[in-house]
Amino acid sequence: MQNATSNVKSAWLTTNRSCNNNCEWCYAQNEKMRNSNMDFEKAKQMIDYLAKEGISKIVLIGGEPTIYNHFVDIIKYIRNKGICASVATNGRKFADLQFAKNTVEAGISSINISLKASSEEDYVKYTKKNGLSEMLKGYQNLCSIGFKPVISYVIVDDNKDEFEKVINLIENNKIEDVIFQFVKPVIELQKSSEIMDIKKMGQFVNYIYKRLKDVKFNYVLEVSFPLCLIDRDILDNLINEKKILTCCHIQKGAGIIFDTDFKVLPCNHFAGFPFDNKAFDPNKDTISALWCSNNVKKFRQKAQCYPSKVCKSCEIWNICGGGCFTRWLYINPNDYISHTNI
Ligand SMILES: C[S@@+](CC[C@H](N)C(=O)[O-])C[C@H]1O[C@@H](n2cnc3c(N)ncnc32)[C@H](O)[C@@H]1O
Repeated sequence: MQNATSNVKSAWLTTNRSCNNNCEWCYAQNEKMRNSNMDFEKAKQMIDYLAKEGISKIVLIGGEPTIYNHFVDIIKYIRNKGICASVATNGRKFADLQFAKNTVEAGISSINISLKASSEEDYVKYTKKNGLSEMLKGYQNLCSIGFKPVISYVIVDDNKDEFEKVINLIENNKIEDVIFQFVKPVIELQKSSEIMDIKKMGQFVNYIYKRLKDVKFNYVLEVSFPLCLIDRDILDNLINEKKILTCCHIQKGAGIIFDTDFKVLPCNHFAGFPFDNKAFDPNKDTISALWCSNNVKKFRQKAQCYPSKVCKSCEIWNICGGGCFTRWLYINPNDYISHTNI
């Protein structure tokens, strides 16, 4: 197994679990956690520790980080330590131009705004809130003050047919950089077999690649399933054009995620399922010691297992990693993975 101790370059701080949306397939929908907030004084101590550890990027995540009471102050604090500060947000709060200005002036390094739907009607369907026009206004506000956010869009079974409308929206709003992400299982909904059949996901990548051949915006695909489900010639093009990202950082131990109470999560999608029930104390604990603990080692070993024995001899295993391994808790990898594409 790889030694991950020195691999950690990024940390995620879950500032709050409250959200101004209520997305159907969100991984963070545990009602019990809904009102939890990160204590700002403790967050500062954590940032001091992460700076000492040489972490180069901190991502603020939630819930919806822009509604955290200390949102602007925490960005300033991170930047003062010389660390890049990013945020994953639905972008609605940036419809307030002054708020957008405050965020940019605080020194935010990158903003990833998730687009939930291509019409207000669908936005309500997926998030139970009216938010599309606010989100688009937020995007335009940030652009008007010289800050270009990246837009992300999660593809699930239910919204595949709206893809054409999404492309129109991206083009009409002159959005330049887009990440299309494929949905991952929602662990909290234990039944959560699939919100999208992964064979269909593979075929949909084939379609997307052909459809987006001549578009003016830049895009990457963040794929959460085995790459052999994509046609090999298209996959090769996507790899050569650097348009494909695989999503599991647990395997490499490249990131550390703190929940609102400073318990460490294996990844964002493990909301409510920390490595252990003890909060990380930056005055006593270290990432290296945590990474060497039995819980984390065992967990990473599981994440690094080949889902199918054919993966062992696959030449692109290092790029692929099998996708989100939590999927195999619900479905049998051997029904999906075959050598035929490789
Ligand atoms: C949980 S949200 C938190 C930040 C913010 N509230 C937002 O909506 O972007 C972080 C990102 O994860 C995405 N996401 C949520 N559930 C997901 C799932 N099951 N699979 C893949 N991405 C998911 C969201 O669309 C969003 O881009």
